[in-house]
Amino acid sequence: MISSHKMDFSAWAQTNQIRIEQVLDQVLPSSDLAPQVLHSAMRYSALDGGKRVRALLCYAAAEMCETDITIADAAASAIELTHAYSLVHDDMPCMDDDDLRRGKPSCHKQYDDATGLLVGDALQSLAFEVLSQANLCPQASQQVSMLNILAKAAGSRGMAGGQAIDLASVGKSLSQIDLETMHHLKTGALIQAAVLLGASNASQPEITAVRAYAKNIGLAFQVVDDILDVEADTTTLGKTAGKDANSNKPTYVTILGLEQAKRHARQLYADAINILVPFGVKAQRLRELADFIMQRSF
Ligand code: IPE
Ligand code: IPE
Ligand code: MG
Ligand code: MG
Ligand code: MG
Repeated sequence: MISSHKMDFSAWAQTNQIRIEQVLDQVLPSSDLAPQVLHSAMRYSALDGGKRVRALLCYAAAEMCETDITIADAAASAIELTHAYSLVHDDMPCMDDDDLRRGKPSCHKQYDDATGLLVGDALQSLAFEVLSQANLCPQASQQVSMLNILAKAAGSRGMAGGQAIDLASVGKSLSQIDLETMHHLKTGALIQAAVLLGASNASQPEITAVRAYAKNIGLAFQVVDDILDVEADTTTLGKTAGKDANSNKPTYVTILGLEQAKRHARQLYADAINILVPFGVKAQRLRELADFIMQRSF
């Protein structure tokens, strides 16, 4: 469907990054349409930026489970819209107060706080609009279950809940278990949803396996994010480096130290790869994405 297994990973990733950009461009209202400022701020925040890891995970899972490409497009765009919303709110003064995102001024800096708030609201609604469009799935029950996956992942027992714990933890030293719970929720939940939405067509054993894979790489993703916050520079990251330490946030680096945090990420990666063994070549893209998540520089 999306590509053959023979295409190398970077070509495959680039093809799908271009694809998700086009899908998002189509689903986001034009900036000429009223209210123009809100629409232009939504497009500013959701287009032309980011690694699109969640979309790639969704497409990879869809490829593995032979999910219809129209469903994969809707799922991948819904998850990227939700993610973009989470970043806009994450950067606001009442949260992380970050001026830079994806190499540009954060949404609330480019526009204003009220616009940032509304952009988040509207991007989240748009995600559900895309996923609830008429006749997306041959069976309505599949579509309802996809909506349920996204709703849970974004909500108070998913991303938003993780963000609440993150903010309540400033200045505290969490136990590793509590830190892990926070990371699973604030970052892992949407990453897991990306894979599950792509695999929404799959058999139960496949779903169980990809869920376990996603749980491991979702956590690894945030451990690497914590490491990059310490080791990378602002220009490479496209967001302010050293922000966690400056804001007194407990992270894998503050709790475990840099070396242990790296070891932990490698262990999560190894567990994720192991889970994919029974799927052989079918899981090639998911394996490559696990590599990408570990090796990324921003
Ligand atoms: C950043 O996510 C926020 C986290 C959950 C760590 P990404 O690193 O995926 O951000 P983009 O989409 O590539 O900008
Ligand atoms: C963000 O975690 C998680 C979400 C946006 C849900 P961070 O606060 O660490 O993300 P960055 O580092 O600002 O991208
Ligand atoms: Mg944050
Ligand atoms: Mg942040
Ligand atoms: Mg971070």
